[in-house]
Amino acid sequence: MYERFALEYAAHAESGAYNAYYDRPAVLGLAGDVAGATVFDAACGPGLYAAELLDRGARVLGCDSSATFVDLARERTGGRADLRVHDLAEPLTWVPDGSVDLVVLALAVHYLDDPAALLREFRRVLRPDGAVVLSTEHPAKAWRRLGGSYFDVGVVEESLSGEHEWPVRAWRRPLTDLHAVFRRAGFLVEELLEPRPVPEMADRYPDDHAALSTFPAFIAFRLIPDPRAGAR
Ligand SMILES: C[S@@+](CC[C@H](N)C(=O)[O-])C[C@H]1O[C@@H](n2cnc3c(N)ncnc32)[C@H](O)[C@@H]1O
Repeated sequence: MYERFALEYAAHAESGAYNAYYDRPAVLGLAGDVAGATVFDAACGPGLYAAELLDRGARVLGCDSSATFVDLARERTGGRADLRVHDLAEPLTWVPDGSVDLVVLALAVHYLDDPAALLREFRRVLRPDGAVVLSTEHPAKAWRRLGGSYFDVGVVEESLSGEHEWPVRAWRRPLTDLHAVFRRAGFLVEELLEPRPVPEMADRYPDDHAALSTFPAFIAFRLIPDPRAGAR
């Protein structure tokens, strides 16, 4: 899906307001100290997270369905991460049970037709004290843009950006539905974050900073395996 505009998206995500000054600070904040941890960067895109996680002392593996993104991510991380072309709709057969401390899934859960199946697979590869940190568009923001009922669940085909022709196919879901996905997959929400823009955004992107100070565009979660959810 991203193949057609991977290079343009990579440049945009590197320093854009919503990625560099909003999503990444929120998700990395929820990730906490990753020094010495094994982190799986799911839907790694052009490797912006992978590079940051490596710099913070993590061992990084990950994947993306876009071969162009995986090439860019490998280049960015200089071979220090094990990054593969892989569709997250399929099981992570190369990742052993209980071998990962943290999964990062930034801005991608909405592309999966069966996100509970993916989260169950994350649960398999996680150590019992592991966690998933994920971010997605805030459902209220999607509702404000798309209209209809806030409670609609379904696939939306639109452009990822107002400025560019970047067609994507994604799911819209109310918060209750997203939370039910987490619970079905055997996770509990440990932290929920409606991010605020970091102060540095104000200088570079004053309009975005003003808007994001009044309304959450994204929402981020730290999920932990529910010990009562039964044997894996
Ligand atoms: C908005 S980008 C986010 C990239 C990266 N996580 C970041 O935040 O910089 C969404 C990513 O999800 C990937 N993606 C979408 N569907 C996927 C799937 N089924 N399997 C693997 N990756 C997928 C896209 O190729 C793209 O890299």
